[in-house]
Amino acid sequence: GDPRLEAISAAIRVVPNFPKKGIMFQDITTLLLDHKAFKHTIDIFVDRYKDMQISVVAGVEARGFMFGPPIALAIGAKFVPLRKPGKLPGKVISESYELEYGHDRLEMHVDAVEPLERVIIIDDLVATGGTLSAAISLMESQGAEVVECACVIGLPEVKGQHKLKGKPLYVLVEPSGLDEFC
Ligand code: PRP
Ligand code: MG
Repeated sequence: GDPRLEAISAAIRVVPNFPKKGIMFQDITTLLLDHKAFKHTIDIFVDRYKDMQISVVAGVEARGFMFGPPIALAIGAKFVPLRKPGKLPGKVISESYELEYGHDRLEMHVDAVEPLERVIIIDDLVATGGTLSAAISLMESQGAEVVECACVIGLPEVKGQHKLKGKPLYVLVEPSGLDEFC
């Protein structure tokens, strides 16, 4: 396989029992500290999307903000932040999604995208797919076309892919042997 993917995998720190017992936390802050591995991560996404007429890269707060902007700059697209509730000052649309306990919401400025714009949605990790599904709904409610969702980390056994409204999911690394993660 691509040796860059091994470097990326190796740069992600796995922290057992964070934020609670039984969770194997996938910590991408160590990837951000590793210039080579972080560069590989961005390069792989840029190579994939640069010729796909993408005009919008949307990133999910907070960890999607760390990967989306460098990709957007490199492919000549705009970056649209999808934020947790109450953070955006303009007119917003809002979409709620389920968490293990309760629910949360994502918001987007309504003037951030135009109908028919081609969008990729970036996040660090997909677990249940609830977050990405909400992001897809926000984009589609504005008439934008979600071409693909892209994450640094995903699990093969994740049910998330079935929740993504039929949109393709692209992940770089898939940690194995983890029962639960976040
Ligand atoms: C984490 C992660 C993804 C999401 C994945 O974000 O960064 O955004 O959970 O989970 P899902 O596929 O089950 O929806 P979190 O909401 O914990 O917060 P953060 O990015 O602000 O740290
Ligand atoms: Mg997140």
